[in-house]
This record gives sequence, C-alpha cells and structure tokens, in this order.
Amino acid sequence: MSEKVAPLSQRPAWKALTAHAATLKPQHLRDLFKADPARGTRYTAEADGIFLDYSKNRITDETLKLLIELAEQSGLKQHIEAMFTGQKINVTENRSVLHVALRAPKSESIIVDDEDVVPAVHDTLDKMSAFANKIRSGEWKGHTGKRIKNVINIGIGGSDLGPVMAYEALKHYSQRDLTFLFVSNVDGTDFAEAVHNLNADETLFLIASKTFTTLETMTNAHSARDWFLASGAPESEIAKHFAALSTNEKLVSEFGIDTANMFGFWDWVGGRYSMDSAIGLSTMIAIGPDNFRSMLAGFHAMDVHFRTTPLEKNLPALMGLLTVWYTDFFDAQTVAILPYEQYLKRFPAYLQQLTMESNGKHVTLDGQHVDADTGPIYWGEPGTNGQHSFYQLIHQGTRLIPCDFIGFSKSLNVLGRHHDMLMANVFAQAEALAFGKTAEEVKAEGVAEALVPHKVFEGNRPSNVLLAEELTPELLGKLIALYEHNVFTQGVIWSIDSFDQWGVELGKVLATKILGEIEAPTEPALTNHDTSTANLIRRYRSTK
Ligand code: F6P
Repeated sequence: MSEKVAPLSQRPAWKALTAHAATLKPQHLRDLFKADPARGTRYTAEADGIFLDYSKNRITDETLKLLIELAEQSGLKQHIEAMFTGQKINVTENRSVLHVALRAPKSESIIVDDEDVVPAVHDTLDKMSAFANKIRSGEWKGHTGKRIKNVINIGIGGSDLGPVMAYEALKHYSQRDLTFLFVSNVDGTDFAEAVHNLNADETLFLIASKTFTTLETMTNAHSARDWFLASGAPESEIAKHFAALSTNEKLVSEFGIDTANMFGFWDWVGGRYSMDSAIGLSTMIAIGPDNFRSMLAGFHAMDVHFRTTPLEKNLPALMGLLTVWYTDFFDAQTVAILPYEQYLKRFPAYLQQLTMESNGKHVTLDGQHVDADTGPIYWGEPGTNGQHSFYQLIHQGTRLIPCDFIGFSKSLNVLGRHHDMLMANVFAQAEALAFGKTAEEVKAEGVAEALVPHKVFEGNRPSNVLLAEELTPELLGKLIALYEHNVFTQGVIWSIDSFDQWGVELGKVLATKILGEIEAPTEPALTNHDTSTANLIRRYRSTK
C-alpha cells in the first residue's frame, strides 16, 4: 500500500462529517426513533450468526453515508486487500500482516516473499494436534511415568492474554481433569502461586514468546526450570516438561528446550493477533484439536465476511467507523466492552491489548502527527456485575461512553430463570442509556421536586448490542475476528500502523538500566536520572 491518502482533515468526507456532527449533536435518540418506526430493525446487520443492532447510535442515514465515504476516501477496501494478499502493510517493521492466514483453509494459498504460507500453517496445526492429543489422553508421560495433570502457559501480552481469555471463554468445552494456569507477571507471586501445591512430575510448561527474549517471560521460564530441577528431576528430562511456542528456534534451543517440542509461527503474526497460532497450544490442549479447528473456522468466516461484504453491511467496518465517529466527533475517550456472559470475563482485558497496542499511536504512516484523536481506551467487565459498580457513571456522568453489549440467546449452564434475567438486563441497560427518563416522567412518579434532577436520566447515550445464539469455539473465533477487523478499520481511517508497538520500547530499555542500578553492589551515582527517579531508586535500595 504505497498510495498516499490526504490528511484526515482534508478528506472531503471528514469535512462533511464535521459539519454533519454539529447538526446531529442536538438531536436525541428518542426523536430519531420516533421519526423512524423502522429504525430498530433497519440499523442492524448480521454475519455468520452474529447479529449487530447499532440502531441506538447517534447516527442517521446521512452519518452512515458519510462514514462510508470516509472509509472509501481512506482506502479501506484497498487496505483490506493489501492485508489479505500479504502486502507489507506493517510498514515500520516492513512485515506482512497475515493473522488471516492462520485460519485459512488448506485449499487456499497466500504468497509472502514468493512462498505460500498456508501449508506451513497446517503442518504446525497437525503437529500441535498430535501433541495436544497425547497430553489429553495421558499418552504423554512426565519423567516419573505419571501423566500430565497441569499445563502452565508462561507468556505475557499477546502470548498470555489470548490464551487465558480463550481458556476462560471455552472452559465449558475443556477437559476437566487437566488444570490450566497462566503465568505472565514478573512479580514472583504470579509464579509462586501458580505452582503452589503442584507436583513437578505432573506439570507441563508451555513457554510462549514470539521473540523468546521478553524479560518477564524468560525470567519466569528460568524460574520454572529451576523449580522443576529443584524437585529432583534430572536435566535430561526437561524435554518431557517444557515446550516452546515461538518464532525463535535458536533461543529456544539455547534455553534447553528440545526443538522437537517447539511449535513455530512467523514474523507476519503480531503478538496480539497470535492466539490462533501455536501460541494457542494451551487452548488446543484444553478444548481438543477439533474444537480448536472449529474456532479457526469461525475466525475464517468473519475474515471472509470482512473481505467481501459491502461496507453498509460489514460488521467490523461498521463498528470501526462508529468508534471513529464517537472518538473524533463526540470527544468520546473510551469504549466499554460489556459481555453478558461470565465465560467472557477476560474478553475486555484481551481487547485492551488488541485495541490499544494497535491504535494507540499519534504518527501516521508517512511520519506526520495525526490530525485527529486516535485509539480510544477500551475497558469493561462482565454484566451484570458492572451494573453495580461503574454503570452509574455511564448513565449519569458527564462523559459519553459508547458501549458494546454482548449477549447470547442460550446459556451453557441453564439454571432456572438466570439466563432470562441476565438478558433482560442487556436489553434494559441499552434501552435506559438511549432513552433515559425525562424530568416529566420523574415528576409523574411523585418524586419530590428537589430530587427530580438527581433522578433524571438524560439518555442519548449510544450502544451496540451484539447477539449470538450460544458461545461455541466457532462463535468465539468470529467474535475475536470481528474486533480484530474493527480495530483494523479504525487504523486505516487514522492512517496509522496498527501492527507495530514502538511505544512499549522506552520503558523496557529504562527498566533494564535501572535494574542494573538497583542491583549494583555500591551506591550508583544516578546522575543520569531526574531527581525524582533517582530519589525513588535510592529509597528502594535502602529499604528493600
Ligand atoms: O512488549 C509488548 C509485546 O511485544 C507485545 O506486543 C507482545 O504481545 C508481548 O510483548 C510479548 O512478546 P513475546 O511474545 O515476544 O514474548
């Protein structure tokens, strides 16, 4: 994608949206619904069993038309094709961005640097399946001849958040006689608590790191190795208890892991887009290779939808454009992700990396300062818990917080009226946010005059509702791909590289330097730091 696009503020659709936003802002969703009795069914779209109701957004036909024009003027369609055909759209790292190849069927071919990458993807999947089956069946034995009972994934960022989210999301489908644990933090407590009361001879460590250099992961991996050897296991038996999920064969073997137990992937898979690569081995062991493949089929179905569906009916594109709409024309700073599904409790945390590491950038592809706000802050908690903590602010605070509600028609754990109650809350919250309660309505309830303003709900607060039948592996794949492409759409509009992450580097470099100073045997000068940092280091050194 070498073609240049004009800065945002110079794109005709951007200018038109700016003028349009000014006329739309005073309008209330109550009036928009009153004016169009079909609105609640018209502003909906469906793909592969995911139904999106976006009618409770502060939009009209004109808004949609202009947002789609903006997508066209930003080259969204061309960027989609560029991604799917392996062009090096991660320009700052000169890499293709091909997580879509991880779920491409065997029959497809995607060429990168003159090579079809799809066969290698399927070879790895086959190797992962054989390994996962051996762990699941008990055929794989630890060094004392006992079967593996505990699987511990050691990784951080994309090498942790995807696996832990997917394990929690698909626990219903997991093999329950296996225990899955996830260690990410360099805080020793994370590792210590994970292995508390575990037997080393029944434990398998998956060292998940794309680069195999990440400080936290390598520190935890070495502690795992020490813990294993401290149990009396000989070094020669490490191969039975350690596997690596990485792109870096050299460092894996230097660590002492048999490369026969290494599951590889490629530089065109970004960390936060890697949960369906070898990084997903813990997921595959938990739910089995067949379920893992149906998750991949779900991802692929959404990929095809994103690539082929006109923007007016394209779920990821619509959601991405709506996020740009609120971020740039309504000053919304955040997006709340509110899954009404307990199994999706880690989904907001997973999305935080996906969205914010992707679009938390202020420099455009051609090195300029972007002339609009980018990447909103994503956050959230499962419903109904959030209703009893932070929803107050969403309903009556001074900030506009677009919400994504996610719900399912069927529960995986049918229990009396629980599920109907849960879903009643989804619909009630979205309705309350949009329509609120007027002063007249409050007064009509006989509320004392002084309390009326406190009990008014302004409404006009936007939300999407995503509704699907049931949380299956396939559906999870679709849902994740929906957000991946939603993020991609936003990044294309802002003309930023959604696939690098230079912003994490400075802190890493400084931490390495400071670690040396903290551990120095004699008081370091610390003159290269500001007085605050130097003082904190000194205080820590004298109190630790
Ligand atoms: O520091 C950020 C980051 O590079 C993420 O992008 C990545 O998911 C994470 O660290 C872990 O990296 P790795 O898989 O190479 O250990």
